[in-house]
Amino acid sequence: MAEEEDQRRARRYQKDLPDDRTNFAKAWKLLEEYGHIPPEDIDAHVIAVAYSIFHYGCLGGWRFLDLYLTTAPEYPDIIARLKAGDKLLDLGCCFGHILRQIAFDGAPSTNLTGADLRPEFVQLGYELFQDKETFGAQFVTGDILNPTDTGLAVLDSKFDIVHTASFFHLFGWDDQVKIGQRVVKFFKPSARALILGRQSGRYEPLSLEAYRQQGGGRYQHNIATLQNLWDAIGRETGTKWKVTGQLLESTAPRDSDHSLAPETPVDGRPRVTLRFAVFKLD
Ligand SMILES: C[S@@+](CC[C@H](N)C(=O)[O-])C[C@H]1O[C@@H](n2cnc3c(N)ncnc32)[C@H](O)[C@@H]1O
Repeated sequence: MAEEEDQRRARRYQKDLPDDRTNFAKAWKLLEEYGHIPPEDIDAHVIAVAYSIFHYGCLGGWRFLDLYLTTAPEYPDIIARLKAGDKLLDLGCCFGHILRQIAFDGAPSTNLTGADLRPEFVQLGYELFQDKETFGAQFVTGDILNPTDTGLAVLDSKFDIVHTASFFHLFGWDDQVKIGQRVVKFFKPSARALILGRQSGRYEPLSLEAYRQQGGGRYQHNIATLQNLWDAIGRETGTKWKVTGQLLESTAPRDSDHSLAPETPVDGRPRVTLRFAVFKLD
């Protein structure tokens, strides 16, 4: 079974960087100007780092080179808030590329934290950006779904903003509710709390009844079902949330964690990315 999964991932692992680098222009600038990697060495450097942990989906799809967050409508306000002292957590941060971009755009790195299951991603992030000695962000590792793993407990009540990309979509509905409950605990009690990110979406998600009848599995949202999810998280935590966002036809580099090929229509329509911002209501 594990071998089958390994083969499936290997098939979807892109062996070369795409010819069209339009989507990666910001990453190249970051690697050159922040990571001080000579432009002629960037391809080889990126491939060497990503291949050192072969078969992991979000690396094989080169998504760690996509700095989409910089185009989110909330981004300028996030940078301003971080400069004024707010704290941001990147949940499921992988190499921490988004955190480096935020620091490059002027936020104090000491106001940034990354959390991930896998410590090797944190180490590879330092290799990718050559900043182990200089990057002031904190990284914490732990399994957000394992109640006996206390690794993430140091994050409780510390944050104003949580970024989380290609993360919630890895899980089924019930686990998403549990993760949401955990995320709520990461916020300072007084925070102007904001959760934002992007993930695989769906124009017409299954109703919860149909989803359960089909046996569960990963749940992909549109805005309405994401609001339902945050209403459920709100009921469990005594909080209220307003979901905003958009379904976008996917221009992101191939998402290797998606169970479908990139061009495969979902519900007879093109594959979509859900970009979201969830605001805490007083
Ligand atoms: C699909 S990758 C997305 C990475 C990055 N946010 C991006 O957009 O490219 C999902 C990340 O979540 C982490 N992850 C998966 N399950 C986790 C868990 N139970 N607890 C904490 N992190 C987890 C993985 O190690 C991986 O880095």
